[in-house]
Amino acid sequence: MEIANRHVLVTGASRGIGKAFAKMCAEDKAHLHLVLRKTDPEAVKSLEAAGAKSVTVWEADLSTRQGVEDLLQRLKDIPVDILFNNAGTLTGGLLEEQPLDDIYRMFQVNLNALVHLTHGLLPGMLSRKRGKIINNSSVSAYMHFPCASTYAASKAAVAAFTDCIRMELKETGVTTLLLITPGIKTRMFDEIETLYSKNFQIPNDSISPSKYAEMIREAVLHDLDVIEPSGLTGVGLKVAKFIKPLFEIEVSRRFKRS
Ligand SMILES: NC(=O)c1ccc[n+]([C@@H]2O[C@H](COP(=O)([O-])OP(=O)(O)OC[C@H]3O[C@@H](n4cnc5c(N)ncnc54)[C@H](OP(=O)(O)O)[C@@H]3O)[C@@H](O)[C@H]2O)c1
Repeated sequence: MEIANRHVLVTGASRGIGKAFAKMCAEDKAHLHLVLRKTDPEAVKSLEAAGAKSVTVWEADLSTRQGVEDLLQRLKDIPVDILFNNAGTLTGGLLEEQPLDDIYRMFQVNLNALVHLTHGLLPGMLSRKRGKIINNSSVSAYMHFPCASTYAASKAAVAAFTDCIRMELKETGVTTLLLITPGIKTRMFDEIETLYSKNFQIPNDSISPSKYAEMIREAVLHDLDVIEPSGLTGVGLKVAKFIKPLFEIEVSRRFKRS
């Protein structure tokens, strides 16, 4: 799908992958819709300067069902062409040590809000026979590490959800793009170290948000339905998927309970 002149809605556009993708869409002359918890006039100015046809900020907190409902209500007249479900939070550590409130909030932002926004914006896309839904999952959906239990569960659900609707949407003009995202050098990447490293030695290779945003842009333009990591992480992903016992040997070597 072309990006120029399209209405592109990005959740989690304040920083990291979402911010980098918004910049790329601005350079491609899209109408940008940024979902932010707090308005950021500087970000709007710089996206306009980068070439965006228009930039609109939609303030929303996706950690409650009401927050998503209010957002959808305000978006009802916007013909969203590309929905990038990107906002996310991280939980981690031994399960019994993860605060339950954090777990509930994480599932709401990473999974429920993503499903709810897709559910709300899909009918408009279907009636226009045009749309692209980009869902940001993770290698954690398939590479099951200790200390990632709840976060990995949310991302595995995102991958399953995207795969199911990909098939449902065949020949409707609406397509999906699943991001099996590897380590990207963002604030969340640094949080992984903080939350996991007491018990698990995490692999620490990463790529920059701008490089990843460029990969997402290419995938949109060429209508790919999945982005999988390459390099060492790509090999790890294949081992996790197809030779699980071998993957578990390496994982056990890196894990200590206390
Ligand atoms: N970085 C990685 O290595 C990696 C790997 C695999 C998958 N991912 C996925 O990639 C996506 C983007 O992550 P990132 O690495 O760019 O992380 P990030 O820099 O931490 O950005 C997270 C974004 O989500 C937003 N967000 C968090 N809670 C929210 C809420 N309650 N309501 C609205 N927005 C909220 C944040 O907004 P605020 O500024 O308001 O907090 C921020 O814009 C996430 O879904 C993440 O799970 C990342």
